[in-house]
Amino acid sequence: MTDEELLARADAIAARAYAPYSNFNVGCAVLTRDGVVIEGVNVENAAYPLGVCAERTTFSRAIVQGYLPGDFTVAAITASPCGGCRQWLAEMQVERVVFRNGGRLVHMTVDELLPEQFDAGELA
Ligand code: THU
Repeated sequence: MTDEELLARADAIAARAYAPYSNFNVGCAVLTRDGVVIEGVNVENAAYPLGVCAERTTFSRAIVQGYLPGDFTVAAITASPCGGCRQWLAEMQVERVVFRNGGRLVHMTVDELLPEQFDAGELA
């Protein structure tokens, strides 16, 4: 599956976003190493900060389905990932990320999206 095909899956699933407060639908589609596509959307809440981004619903689903960090090759997102979701993408060790930003199609690694990452191993 090409990055463009994966992004098309993200575009299609964005129609299922629950975003009555922002009216900004976001879709995410992640490709696993075993060739499975897992999709998610943003899910908002009347208590605004409780809303969840599309990337987080996607990876939460993936974890429930038995996938683990390192099991993902590409994440395609219909919008530029927010700062918190960049941290999620780093945690999940996604190899590559493709997303739309304005009219542009952007391809980046997680290191490019979030340089100098926090390493919880340094807490010990
Ligand atoms: N949103 C995402 O789903 N992912 C991002 O990375 C950026 C923001 C959602 C959150 C909220 O429901 C809406 O977009 C507007 O911020």
